[in-house]
Amino acid sequence: MIRLLFSVLKLVFGLLVLIPLWHCQKEKSNYEEIAISITNEAKSNLVKKLTAAMAEGGTKQAIPFCKLNAVGFTNQLGQKHKVELRRITSKPRNISNSLSPEEEKIFLEIEKLKTNEGVFPHQTRTSDDSVTFYIPIPVMGFCLQCHGNSNEIQKETKQILNQEYPNDKAIGYKVGELRGLFSVKFPK
Ligand code: HEC
Repeated sequence: MIRLLFSVLKLVFGLLVLIPLWHCQKEKSNYEEIAISITNEAKSNLVKKLTAAMAEGGTKQAIPFCKLNAVGFTNQLGQKHKVELRRITSKPRNISNSLSPEEEKIFLEIEKLKTNEGVFPHQTRTSDDSVTFYIPIPVMGFCLQCHGNSNEIQKETKQILNQEYPNDKAIGYKVGELRGLFSVKFPK
């Protein structure tokens, strides 16, 4: 009888420990799914807007357009989804996209963990009041005309970049390198 009671107690105790753990795990994967869908929306919208501006007036129009809209657009998309959304990088064009010391460690870690297939992993950080996902932004061929080596950037583009961003660090990239991260911060 006592043994039965013990078994029941063990079961109840086990469930009490496991249920919150399971719940926690489930919440994390939900957050991650939402973070990925927000960053996919941000990426496709940014590329769409950039391509439209390029089609209309080349890099001459697209660069001032990005300067005026990219950060605001990213912030607004975050607000719409009730998260803090940022695009951050080790070599910023716009200084407001710089890394904090903590983010610098995360950036280097993600860069180091690139797989043989060339895929950068995601990273998560949890604090008492938030969960933050870091989602990589790799360089593609299309990006090189504004972020590539000097010989890949047209003269006119260089002039506009110099004019709009005299302290530009965001050049010299190759396809497949880590250009930046989306940081998606959920309040708990
Ligand atoms: C027409 C030129 C142009 C093209 C093409 C372009 N970018 Fe940019 N990119 C910019 C400009 C201008 C900024 C700065 C925007 C700002 O002031 O917020 C920028 C900023 C960024 C940032 C934010 C970090 C920073 O340095 O301020 C990331 C990340 C980024 N670009 C990634 C990419 C990727 C990935 C591609 C290719 C898919 C790409 N860009 C294509 C012009 C371009």
